[in-house]
Amino acid sequence: MSDKEADFKILKALASDADDIVALEHEYIECPWSEKDLTNALINPLYTFYKAEIGQETAGYIGVNWCLDEGNVCNVAVKKGYRRMGIGKELVFAVVEEARKRSVKRLYLEVNAFNVAAIALYEKLGFRTVYSRPRYYGEDTALVMMRETE
Ligand SMILES: CC(C)(COP(=O)(O)OP(=O)(O)OC[C@H]1O[C@@H](n2cnc3c(N)ncnc32)[C@H](O)[C@@H]1OP(=O)(O)O)[C@@H](O)C(=O)NCCC(=O)NCCS
Repeated sequence: MSDKEADFKILKALASDADDIVALEHEYIECPWSEKDLTNALINPLYTFYKAEIGQETAGYIGVNWCLDEGNVCNVAVKKGYRRMGIGKELVFAVVEEARKRSVKRLYLEVNAFNVAAIALYEKLGFRTVYSRPRYYGEDTALVMMRETE
C-alpha cells in the first residue's frame, strides 16, 4: 500500500448498510436509485454490494447486478475527502474477483461521457467503450463500457 492510500477495508455490504449507501448514492450519483430500490437490491441475491470502510465510516461503495454470465455495475462512489487513495480501484477489483468466482465472463457499466474521473478509473482497470447512448443523461451521452474478467 502506498503512503497515499488510506487504511481502508473492502467488505461485503449488508442490509444494515442501506442508510450509508443511500446517503452516498444521493450525494454523488447523477441519477440515484431510490431508497426503496437500493434497500431491496441489498437483500436480493442477484446483486452484490461492497463498501469501503475506514474506522466506523463508510467511505465508498459499489453495486453489481448479476445476469447469467454478465455483471452490470450499478454505481460506485467514494466520499470526496477519500478520493485518489485507491478506494475506487479496490471496489471495482472486488467486483471483478466476485465475477471470476461466479464464472461471470463480462462486466458492463454505464458512465456519463463527461465523467472524466470515472472513465479514467474504468479505463485503468481494463474497461473499454463498446457503444454510446446519446442524450441518455439529459443532453449528455452515456458510454457503455465493458471488460472481460479473464
Ligand atoms: C470515480 C470515483 C469512484 C473514483 O474513486 P477514487 O477512489 O478517487 O479512485 P482511485 O483513487 O481508485 O483512482 C484510481 C485511478 O483512477 C483514475 N482517476 C480517479 N480519479 C481521477 C480523476 N479525478 N482524474 C483523473 N483520473 C482519475 C486514476 O488513474 C487513478 O489512479 P492514480 O490516482 O494512481 O492516478 C470517484 O471520483 C467518485 O466517487 N466520483 C463521483 C461518483 C461517480 O461519478 N461515480 C461513477 C458513476 S458511473
